[in-house]
Amino acid sequence: MSNAFVTGNSSGLGLGLTTALLADGATVYGCSRRGCPLDHHDLHDQHLDLSKLEQVSAALDRLLGGVERLDLVVLNAGVLGDIRLLSQTALPEIYEIMDINLWANKLILDWLIDNALPVDQVVLISSGAAVRGNKGWGAYALSKAGLNMLAQLYAHEMPESHLIALAPGLVDTAMQDYLCDPEQVEVGDFPSIEKLRAARDSGEMPSAELAARQILQLLPALKRHPSGSFADVRTIV
Ligand SMILES: NC(=O)c1ccc[n+]([C@@H]2O[C@H](COP(=O)([O-])OP(=O)(O)OC[C@H]3O[C@@H](n4cnc5c(N)ncnc54)[C@H](OP(=O)(O)O)[C@@H]3O)[C@@H](O)[C@H]2O)c1
Repeated sequence: MSNAFVTGNSSGLGLGLTTALLADGATVYGCSRRGCPLDHHDLHDQHLDLSKLEQVSAALDRLLGGVERLDLVVLNAGVLGDIRLLSQTALPEIYEIMDINLWANKLILDWLIDNALPVDQVVLISSGAAVRGNKGWGAYALSKAGLNMLAQLYAHEMPESHLIALAPGLVDTAMQDYLCDPEQVEVGDFPSIEKLRAARDSGEMPSAELAARQILQLLPALKRHPSGSFADVRTIV
């Protein structure tokens, strides 16, 4: 692995991936609002708020201009929003989640195509929520279902790259801090949360570092799936 680009590199899975890739000797390009906390000579970091869609292209010019090829792109940045009934979620909240989780990724893929930057493998970090339709996962589930279709559609438009939408399984990150906080989410109202809390309590939820390492180990296996398909780390053999 020599050149990688990871979005959402300031915490959680994106930070875990960046750490593991740097340890493996890769040059890693990344972006987030807060910035990557790592200090490494092979890390190139760009502060970028992906909800500001009009800023994405210029930020990528600064970050990736001059890069000749990328072996791996991980479109990882994402937000959960509140677990709440969709009927009680206003459209502006949904728009923001869609902008970050879906449309910013479209713009990134467009930039790669427009700049004719060769990319070997693209992993779009999806979620089991993309296909489960559990109560309360509204805007997030919609955005990840859209992301799965984005992968499928761009597979036609990036024939030299292998794309996959990948559910990373449960990972112990800030997202789970929110989901597992009884003051934030009431299990009685949203039963799917119970499984997450049980997994965290019993130590079955891997750290971001461990989950990142698992994803990197799976990269060759992911390529055996058709480009554009959806896979879940829990079921890949
Ligand atoms: N944790 C899980 O169990 C789990 C399960 C399934 C899927 N996922 C997916 O895994 C991915 C990573 O999430 P995580 O669990 O590692 O959560 P996390 O710790 O909250 O990380 C989210 C990352 O996305 C970045 N991000 C969020 N909004 C952004 C914005 N507007 N502009 C730029 N970057 C932004 C954050 O950076 P800044 O805040 O600095 O901008 C951060 O680096 C997400 O796509 C999530 O949907 C996680």
